[in-house]
Amino acid sequence: MRRPMVAGNWKMHGTRASVAELIKGLSNLALPSGIEVVVFPPSLYINQVIEGVEGKRIAVGAQDSAIESAQGALTGEIAPSQLVDAGCEFVLIGHSERRQLLGESDEVLNRKFAAAQATGLQPILCIGETLAEREAGKTLEVVGRQLRSITEAFGVAAFANAVIAYEPVWAIGTGLTATPQQAQDVHKAIREQLAAENSEIAQGVRLLYGGSVKAANAAELFGMPDIDGGLIGGASLNADEFGAICRAAGN
Ligand code: 13P
Repeated sequence: MRRPMVAGNWKMHGTRASVAELIKGLSNLALPSGIEVVVFPPSLYINQVIEGVEGKRIAVGAQDSAIESAQGALTGEIAPSQLVDAGCEFVLIGHSERRQLLGESDEVLNRKFAAAQATGLQPILCIGETLAEREAGKTLEVVGRQLRSITEAFGVAAFANAVIAYEPVWAIGTGLTATPQQAQDVHKAIREQLAAENSEIAQGVRLLYGGSVKAANAAELFGMPDIDGGLIGGASLNADEFGAICRAAGN
């Protein structure tokens, strides 16, 4: 049985004051048992969040990490080992905003993925197609290639200790959610691609859907057989809305 996960990606949002408010809201949530909840604050606020949610069933992760696992001369970056030292358990790798706006290539993302795993951080690998790619009928080709980049470099066993988030770029921050069936079709293809190499790993890996998930559509999405939870952007900035999404994953 895969344990459902709800992950909140706060992106580049927050101030010390608004983060304190959000921590207060999250701390008051009655989270369903049996699901894993993780939040990804901006790095600047990771310590504040880790201290603030202490004793709650909420894990903390980073939105990005460096290509090397150990600390060193790499201006502006944060080493996975430093994130572990701070108390992080997860890291997002390859969010489409970083692939598209910052030009992060599969090669760079492979290094980040491996560096994170080497320290014991669990990567959440984000993959997904643009609208143009979907309209050209290339969704599975694009997603398959992004996934293969990792399996060819490190073997399918890399996903024994990682999570995958399918986030169609056209659904992120647009209010345009993939239909449950559209999301399920891609999730099924991702699992089949992994199963062709190792069915046990394919059955065990959690596949999250991301892209305009909110309380109103979460239950239907999470009800699909290959959707094991969600990676939530905008709606994760509101504790009550995020709590409702968590409850949908717990049902
Ligand atoms: P939204 O939920 O705001 O569409 O963002 C999704 C996302 O990019 C999460 O990583």
